[in-house]
Amino acid sequence: MFRKISVIGKVFDKRNSAVVMVDDKPILIVKYNNSLYGMDAICSHMGCGILTDVQDNVATCPLHGAKFNVITGEMIAPPQVRPEVPCEFKSNSKTPLKTYKVRINNEGFVEIDV
Ligand code: FES
Repeated sequence: MFRKISVIGKVFDKRNSAVVMVDDKPILIVKYNNSLYGMDAICSHMGCGILTDVQDNVATCPLHGAKFNVITGEMIAPPQVRPEVPCEFKSNSKTPLKTYKVRINNEGFVEIDV
């Protein structure tokens, strides 16, 4: 079910991403190729990074550099604690992040299918 959030679609005229809170959960919204995509904003590696660094359809975790495809939620590059050593934390680092359909309603507000 789509839920209206307090963000107007025009925000994405000037920026390509924003993190919004829905039920106390941060969700990353990304504009890519004139469509909006939603994905959980907390990194699945150690759960301590908020994904705010976005280029095209790829979000990069600020902590250990894991990269996620915001359209599928798939981790496309693994975390690395040190560039020369693969990260030793293997818990759920490959778990894809949940994605959400996003649209702009006829009032101009963003809606997320949560
Ligand atoms: S917490 Fe995101 S890569 Fe480690």
